[in-house]
Amino acid sequence: PLKIAVFASGSGSNFQALVEAIREQAIPATVSLLVCDKPAARVVQRAEALGVPAFLFDPKAYASREAYEEEIVGRLHEEGVELIVLAGYMRLITATLVEPYYGRMINIHPALLPAFPGVRAIRQALEYGVKLAGVTVHFVDGGMDSGPIIAQQAIEVRDDDTEDTLAERVHAVEHELLPRTVRWIAEGRVTLNDRKVTIRPGD
Ligand code: GAR
Repeated sequence: PLKIAVFASGSGSNFQALVEAIREQAIPATVSLLVCDKPAARVVQRAEALGVPAFLFDPKAYASREAYEEEIVGRLHEEGVELIVLAGYMRLITATLVEPYYGRMINIHPALLPAFPGVRAIRQALEYGVKLAGVTVHFVDGGMDSGPIIAQQAIEVRDDDTEDTLAERVHAVEHELLPRTVRWIAEGRVTLNDRKVTIRPGD
């Protein structure tokens, strides 16, 4: 099975959905590590409950972003991690991580990229007044939410949506789209060529 490390900073609902989907839907993968920069985050409790080991670190204890990323890369190599999944990891990533893992690191973002990159994407979309919100899963490159897109799903915005009501539907879509994308990758069906991603149909 494909060895995965999930990076998360917050609630970890996507982390849990991915671990459960892998176990229940026979996805040929395993989440072998949680990497978390917020030791008090709820995702840490979820990892414990699910029996997934965690690498916790405090960014303030390091001289630079590169310094803690070097330590993370060392741990990923030790574990033999083949795919990194960023699921609500609220930190910028540098070349220290991107270079060794380009094409093997994906991110889930709660908007239809390239619209609304960065933080609070759901609120940005509501404030803009779009009629279609959505979710994107993409390969991570050096930019902010800018890498090659693997999968997207649109969600209709309702006139009475608030950030909370829309976020609830966004999360429901995320919890399906992320495991589906990981399955495609684990089954070796995803090809990255320049910026273009193609998915070979399943059997
Ligand atoms: C998710 O909605 C994810 O798309 C978003 O953070 C949330 C984490 O939720 N990521 C970003 O905004 C990245 N720019 P979770 O902790 O419950 O999985």
